[in-house]
Amino acid sequence: MAGEKPSVELCKGVNGLDKVVLRDARGSSAEVYLFGGHVTSWRTDHREELLFVSNKAIFKPPKAIRGGIPICFPQFSSHGNLEQHGFARNKFWSIDTDPPPFPSDSSSKTFVDLILKPTDDDFKIWPHSYEFRLRVALGLGGDLMLTSRIRNTNADGKPFSFTFAYHTYFSVSDISELRVEGLETLDYLDNLKERERFTEQGDAITFESGVDKIYLSTPTKIAIIDHEKKRTFVLRKDGLPDAVVWNPWDRKAKAMPDFGDDEYKHMLCVEAAAIEKPITLKPGEEWKGRLELSAVPSSYCSGQLDPRKVLQG
Ligand code: BG6
Repeated sequence: MAGEKPSVELCKGVNGLDKVVLRDARGSSAEVYLFGGHVTSWRTDHREELLFVSNKAIFKPPKAIRGGIPICFPQFSSHGNLEQHGFARNKFWSIDTDPPPFPSDSSSKTFVDLILKPTDDDFKIWPHSYEFRLRVALGLGGDLMLTSRIRNTNADGKPFSFTFAYHTYFSVSDISELRVEGLETLDYLDNLKERERFTEQGDAITFESGVDKIYLSTPTKIAIIDHEKKRTFVLRKDGLPDAVVWNPWDRKAKAMPDFGDDEYKHMLCVEAAAIEKPITLKPGEEWKGRLELSAVPSSYCSGQLDPRKVLQG
């Protein structure tokens, strides 16, 4: 619906949970739940959904929503003593009405700023004071941009360390038809093999069975090429050296109560992350991690798109 006015609207989502709906002038949109600071929808100007959310997703705190873009903080997966993927995805965030200014690169007018700060109870689980500011923005052309700014506000002079991921679930036509470019020849930790370190062989990443890998020191651009949909997702990331690739495949899918048995065929998680080297912040220091997602209508097969050009361009 081109010609609409860009808008940012707070309304009720599933089970009466608060969500913010962003719409740009060309009709692209995104939805963000305050529960989890969780992006659950990103649509093209043709209203086509680009993110996967399970039909069995339980929109009921404290269980994180299955799909979209959960935020993993301050711990990725089970790499530490906290709950799986940390607590940020199970907390209620607030709208940040007065965020510190962004550098001039943020030209988008369609955005929302959220903030997460610890409560007294949270302090018992992770004894640190922090301000986590998340900006979700729609860029020109419908790109989705997420910027996280995490500041150590400890008054006791203590630093803290954390790991982090934007756990993005992409909606895809058929997992067995996908190619991921940009990770070939890199080292990875295989979560299915006790995090043993391997080097990726071969040309591009394709999928024939479950995968749960943490690629290390990855380039800033990664492409997911969906032949059938004639679409390529391009991830651009900054401050996030690692990239997790996850698909549970059939057996794990069946064991997940909030995930349909066959849904693994239509999703892939590629997660921009900082895992291998945790981020350490001294009091007063701030870390920034940025993810920009574009969906390019094209097809590798049709010859319209050379993924290598996408990655270099
Ligand atoms: C991925 C992890 O990021 O998230 C997997 O690498 C994990 O090991 C998956 O199974 C889903 O995690 P959760 O906690 O959302 O079920």
